[in-house]
Amino acid sequence: TPAACPAGAPTPPEAQGPELFTWEFATDPYPAYAWLREHAPVHKTRLPSGVEAWLVTRYVDAKQALADQRLSKNPAHHGEPAHAKSKTGIPGERSANLMTHLLNIDPPDHTRLRRLVSKAFTPRRVAEFAPRVQELTDRLIDQFVEKGEADLIHDFAFPLPIYAICDLLGVPREDQDDFRDWAGMMIRHGGGPRGGVARSVKKMRGYLAELIHRKRLEPGDDLISGLIRASDHGEHLTENEAAAMAFILLFAGFETTVNLIGNGTYALLTHPEQRERLQESLGDGGDTGLLETGIEELLRFDGPVELATWRFATEPLTIGGEDIAAGDPVLVVLAAADRDPERFDRPDTLDLSRRDNQHLGYGHGIHYCLGAPLARLEGQAALATLLRRLPDLRLAVEPGDLRWRGGLIMRGLRTLPVEFTPAQ
Ligand code: HEM
Repeated sequence: TPAACPAGAPTPPEAQGPELFTWEFATDPYPAYAWLREHAPVHKTRLPSGVEAWLVTRYVDAKQALADQRLSKNPAHHGEPAHAKSKTGIPGERSANLMTHLLNIDPPDHTRLRRLVSKAFTPRRVAEFAPRVQELTDRLIDQFVEKGEADLIHDFAFPLPIYAICDLLGVPREDQDDFRDWAGMMIRHGGGPRGGVARSVKKMRGYLAELIHRKRLEPGDDLISGLIRASDHGEHLTENEAAAMAFILLFAGFETTVNLIGNGTYALLTHPEQRERLQESLGDGGDTGLLETGIEELLRFDGPVELATWRFATEPLTIGGEDIAAGDPVLVVLAAADRDPERFDRPDTLDLSRRDNQHLGYGHGIHYCLGAPLARLEGQAALATLLRRLPDLRLAVEPGDLRWRGGLIMRGLRTLPVEFTPAQ
């Protein structure tokens, strides 16, 4: 917590630290995170929901906390029974009985479920999916390329991941627009009116249960069939576990990737020199140039997951010199850790060729992002294709006029209006 003042003296405003969770903070949280890293690196704060939680902002503490098994993912460990409910930020999951997924559980259950899903969701399956992602990317650009303008969130970053994950899971094409609508409801109203969101989650859950049932009778070459088939020492996923797994893959893989594409494109458009470097490096022959290091740098610089999902102390422990009590919630601020000058050279500079870049954008430890290979594939295809096909892409509004979503876990833009020379 910020340094206490001598008894009786009024606390000077700068010692109280920056105001968090305001509109300005949602637009640019990085100055506040710099202050916290320096003055209060493990800081107890009251969140907009009223829950008190510790924010961990230094890289070294963040990395350690992400791997600390004394910090449980199971919301039942939260000290305040009134709040002992889902803390993943996934709206409606509790009412739809989808809680037994990877981001809510600890070993040994986590180890078992993660091993099972890893057998179906392999890097090879993702690599084989590359041509389909490219086709989807091109199809979406085809739909606006003649107009000379687009909202890159609505027209591109939003539909791409939802269609991609639906295809991978084995949701038939004719049903994918339903998923698009349900996901749209969840993303638009994540922190807002619960009714519509809960209904969307319930519909999605009902649909997935039925799909799993159908795939059990008639398995295909898709990920849901793979999940049903996967077994470990004779153990299989139960139908409920398979539905929760499909749901977390959709949920964890959706808004994150929307924001990787949105935040990444925005960072490129506001750093013309870096964008030019990337554009020149791509070449016509399908060269990937700076794409690989570039995507990692965009994740470090302004990644989609601002705070890792909730953790709860199962016993008293110390992080960065602060005593955390059993039951206290701990939020690891990935966005702050990834700008820590103790770890990264010139951390506030976007450098697409950055080499020593062990960022925490995908987390760390046993909950490290399962979908990282798919996210990389989608991010690389999306940005490279945009820059190749719309070479003079530019923002259609001033950066200050853009609105950021003020959610707790995710960081992303509501809209990204752009202009470009229309294709003939
Ligand atoms: C976990 C980031 C895309 C599936 C995580 C975590 C982070 C993360 C930070 C760890 C959370 C924590 O420890 O509290 C991202 C980012 C993405 C992305 C930045 C896009 C750029 C995806 C995709 C999928 C996915 C495309 C799947 C299709 C998952 C799953 C977990 C996870 C299942 C939970 C793993 C576990 O608990 O063992 N992701 N993710 N993610 N991610 Fe991703």
